[in-house]
Amino acid sequence: MSGFRFNFQVNEADEEMSDTEVSMNMTHGDGATPDVPEDPAAQLTPNITTVLFPVTVNDFAPAPGISLWRRNAVDFESTFTASTKSAVLTHNTQSDLLPGVYEGGFKSWEASTDLTIYLQGLLTDGQLTIGPSTRVLELGCGSALPGIFLLTRGAGLVDFQDYNADVIHQVTLANIALNVARRPDTQAPTEPIQLPLSVLEGLPSRFFTGDWASLSSLLVDSQGATQEYDLLLLSETIYSLANYQKQIQLIWTHLSRGNPNACALVAAKNHYFGVGGNMMDFEQALTAFRPAADGPADGGPVFNVSTVWNSSDSSVPRSILKVSLRR
Ligand SMILES: C[S@@+](CC[C@H](N)C(=O)[O-])C[C@H]1O[C@@H](n2cnc3c(N)ncnc32)[C@H](O)[C@@H]1O
Repeated sequence: MSGFRFNFQVNEADEEMSDTEVSMNMTHGDGATPDVPEDPAAQLTPNITTVLFPVTVNDFAPAPGISLWRRNAVDFESTFTASTKSAVLTHNTQSDLLPGVYEGGFKSWEASTDLTIYLQGLLTDGQLTIGPSTRVLELGCGSALPGIFLLTRGAGLVDFQDYNADVIHQVTLANIALNVARRPDTQAPTEPIQLPLSVLEGLPSRFFTGDWASLSSLLVDSQGATQEYDLLLLSETIYSLANYQKQIQLIWTHLSRGNPNACALVAAKNHYFGVGGNMMDFEQALTAFRPAADGPADGGPVFNVSTVWNSSDSSVPRSILKVSLRR
């Protein structure tokens, strides 16, 4: 099995931090070809009894207008058990990713901060309006800060997907519960608190696990019609070339046909050293993509793709791609 670790040069006492101030190197594995069978996609019914509590909480307030809480990683690291397969593997091997087994969702990656700040900017500028009819899907959500941000801003539906059920239980659901329950403009408590699990009931969200390759089979309504979204959010999902076509197929299949403003926002590092994934290749793959059916009559590209944000001062350059349907 190949795995790799982005060599995080972080303070051990601050493991919850994102990778904002770290350098990345791969120490082994090519990251391109998972050598274990993919987990099939599944819908997860939140089992709130598996979310451990009490929890410690950090503020996530990277820019004006964004005030979220997130669960501190120290909590769930201390709860790793043999039943949390991905966590145990990750912990024991010191790997940040084990392709096809654990795909990095326990950490909060820096492009998720970029994407949340970018969304906040769109809302402030009036370029994005969120309301009860807005449908959002965050793919590869992990700590899910961008999706949770839009959930707290009133999106009618925010669905979340992560490869690992452990991540959904321990991180995604915990962060959602914390943010849906909290009073606005309050700071994270310094002492551990009970997770307000009751708020998860009746939430306008669904949760999916497993591989992107089979996710579409679950995103259908009772008549079998494809479910579409106004916004697809992806952060730090393009590190592995092996997964490009799966993500692009999902974008093609699930971007709303009825909403001309529907788009996918793909936030990532420009290059994942040692693993091969990079923004330029992903953009080219989007341009080269041709669907099996229903593409434009001229046989040309099906997407409009543009870079809408670039990091300015980072030693690890990052950007955000906007992908919409060519009409
Ligand atoms: C590096 S993590 C990024 C997590 C989060 N978006 C962030 O930026 O903090 C990559 C995420 O992509 C998802 N992922 C990777 N490969 C996948 C696959 N083949 N199928 C489904 N999800 C996958 C995992 O769920 C994982 O959480």
